[in-house]
Amino acid sequence: MRATTDAELNADRDTRGPPLSESTSSGKDRAPSPPPGSVRDDARGERESRIGAVIAAATRLLPEGGLLVEVGFDHGKILYGALAARPDARGLGIEVLPEVDHPRIPPELAGRCRLVTGDGLDLLADTAEAASTVVIMAGLGARSIAALLARHPTLVTRLCAVVLCPTFLEAELRPALRALGLGLADEGLAFDRDRYYEVITARAAHLVPASASDLDPMLAAWGPRLFDQRDPLFPAFLRDARTRLAAAFARDLEAYADGPKAALGQKLAGLDALLQRLESTRRS
Ligand SMILES: C[S@@+](CC[C@H](N)C(=O)[O-])C[C@H]1O[C@@H](n2cnc3c(N)ncnc32)[C@H](O)[C@@H]1O
Repeated sequence: MRATTDAELNADRDTRGPPLSESTSSGKDRAPSPPPGSVRDDARGERESRIGAVIAAATRLLPEGGLLVEVGFDHGKILYGALAARPDARGLGIEVLPEVDHPRIPPELAGRCRLVTGDGLDLLADTAEAASTVVIMAGLGARSIAALLARHPTLVTRLCAVVLCPTFLEAELRPALRALGLGLADEGLAFDRDRYYEVITARAAHLVPASASDLDPMLAAWGPRLFDQRDPLFPAFLRDARTRLAAAFARDLEAYADGPKAALGQKLAGLDALLQRLESTRRS
């Protein structure tokens, strides 16, 4: 089994790093201040926090008495918040950090929550209750999430759902989910501390209604359910991506044409056309 690298851990620890790509982050950088007039003002206050959005997505599909698992719980706020919202649920936190670094379980949750040291989904591989388990992975890079899911291809299609909130804008996650036989059950956006976060809920593809948007390459890359559901933050999210990535667009787009960044390059190259399309859909 592949252990998570130090570089990934550092990148994953900082949920406020630059959004372009996890591989560009030292984990110490902070998101640049948006330029005047950027889209942040449109969105402020319109949505729940990142943590709130992840909790809402994870508790929505969880069956009565089900198991909520958070991989990489760190401070525990997501797992504890989700368990507080669902008094019927049990919780399991899995974290690579040793036990001595785990947070204290709030006394009111102690009877139905367990925190363990482990790597990704390895501890769940043989679980008999996959169908009533929702797995959360938040604050990890998209590539790390994809790699952790891909290590357990059978398990992930047996789970009730996975709720994913990657740290950075990437192009790998949705194609990786498709390759694993997972479909997009829901997508949402959260605007939190000057950053947009995608919250993606995926489950076995046969449980997810088909949508024409999945067959459209640009929508499939940027968020087919965000489009289908006319998510009010979708245009602002795209404009924000363009604003933040404008320099890279101007300078580096050719460098994205080939190699490991090719998918991200294609995704970025379609941004303006997608924005125009959203505008015209809104007008009609
Ligand atoms: C930035 S924190 C995110 C905390 C919380 N999930 C959130 O979104 O606010 C990422 C956490 O994932 C943990 N982590 C990274 N790789 C992991 C793995 N393979 N298995 C379990 N935990 C992992 C790190 O140790 C770190 O505590």
